Amino acid sequence: MSAAQLTARRAGPLRGVVRAPGDKSISHRALILGALATGVTEIEGLLEGEDVRRTAAAMAAFGAGVERLGEGRWRVEGRGGFAEPADVVDCGNAGTGVRLIMGAAAGFAMSATFTGDASLRGRPMNRVLKPLGRMGATWICREGGRLPLTLKGGGLKHIAYTLPEPSAQVKSAVLLAGLHADGGAEVIEPEATRDHTERMLRGFGAEVEVLELGAGRHIVLPGGQTLRGTKIHVPGDPSSAAFPLVAALITPGSEVTVQGMLLNPSRIGLLDTLGEMGADLSVTNVRDEGGETVADVTARHSELEGVETPPERAPSMIDEYPILAVAAAFASGKTTMRGIGEMRVKESDRIALMAAGLAACGIGVEEEPEAMTVIGAKRGNHLVAGGAGVVTHGDHRIAMSHLVLGLAAEAPVRVDEPGMIATSFPGFVDLMRGLGADIGEAVEA
Ligand code: S3P
Repeated sequence: MSAAQLTARRAGPLRGVVRAPGDKSISHRALILGALATGVTEIEGLLEGEDVRRTAAAMAAFGAGVERLGEGRWRVEGRGGFAEPADVVDCGNAGTGVRLIMGAAAGFAMSATFTGDASLRGRPMNRVLKPLGRMGATWICREGGRLPLTLKGGGLKHIAYTLPEPSAQVKSAVLLAGLHADGGAEVIEPEATRDHTERMLRGFGAEVEVLELGAGRHIVLPGGQTLRGTKIHVPGDPSSAAFPLVAALITPGSEVTVQGMLLNPSRIGLLDTLGEMGADLSVTNVRDEGGETVADVTARHSELEGVETPPERAPSMIDEYPILAVAAAFASGKTTMRGIGEMRVKESDRIALMAAGLAACGIGVEEEPEAMTVIGAKRGNHLVAGGAGVVTHGDHRIAMSHLVLGLAAEAPVRVDEPGMIATSFPGFVDLMRGLGADIGEAVEA
């Protein structure tokens, strides 16, 4: 998609059955674990967004054989470890990509230099560098732990690390480094975060012990383990499925089914929240695919009520707050989202950008350092005005969220930098159009 801007307009109801693209978190991990393993990993349903393509290229740069066999079908031939890349590794927009790859690379006696786009170069890497440094890795980087950064690994020692922030990326970086650390690694997470790394490590033949600790977990990865190539079927990404599902909830007369959506409990906080808001959602055809539960999820237009989301739910819906804020704009009453400070260090400061975008569209929003309140437009019986041009700072989820809002607002909503949507959801516009959405190239207002 090459449009400089895109506009979403109110049209008819959204109707149809679609498949969500492959899960981004699992796609990155499939390539990285495949490259670390010995032997062949065959992947089906890989997300072919920009972020994951960067990870595929990075794995080739670290010495793995990486081949695209067909749509979503990839073959990775791991050499049982990483070799020093001959050039700078550019991870594009992908925080997950760079943080996990740094963890994996730290296990080997070599240097690797990482960079990314302007957004990624502005994001904090200290959260990963801190534990990797305690394990024995060294680096040189820009002020504040920013990329570009050269990491020198090898000779790592055991760590027992308590996560200061609920981050699956940090947990995963420590576990991947632990694969090649003397004595392995332990991670204590006071709040459970997505557990794809633990599950997938087991799929690659590793021993991982997970002890439940109230709301958190203690993960133990013994050292000296070898991974063996495997087959992976990547389920549909709930973070992407959220956009057509919420679009159906807010657009009168709509009914949309997303097939094959991942229902991992650490990823479905949004479904719980929408359920509490009174959303008409049904989950059918629940099945097991490659060790994960997937299902078909149907959303029908609903009268939504505002709710308060508790801080402890944040890790299971951290990427979904922007689209939840859109659902909240069409609800009656206030929705307050608590404990969402991590949103400020994503591809953009998502609290600030959602507050600005919603306000430009006529929605009342209150912003706090770690919380956001959206005043639903149905209160007082007025409608969501729309009619704004939204600045996305190149953040794919800010762009998709406001386009969804535009589908049910009174006046069209325009977003800039829509090309960034391809980082996580390359077929978004076509998929939405197939459901009946009016999303087109913007005409300058
Ligand atoms: C991810 C973890 C989350 C999430 C990101 C993907 C992962 O980030 O926001 O989109 O795949 O591990 P944090 O670990 O920073 O919370």
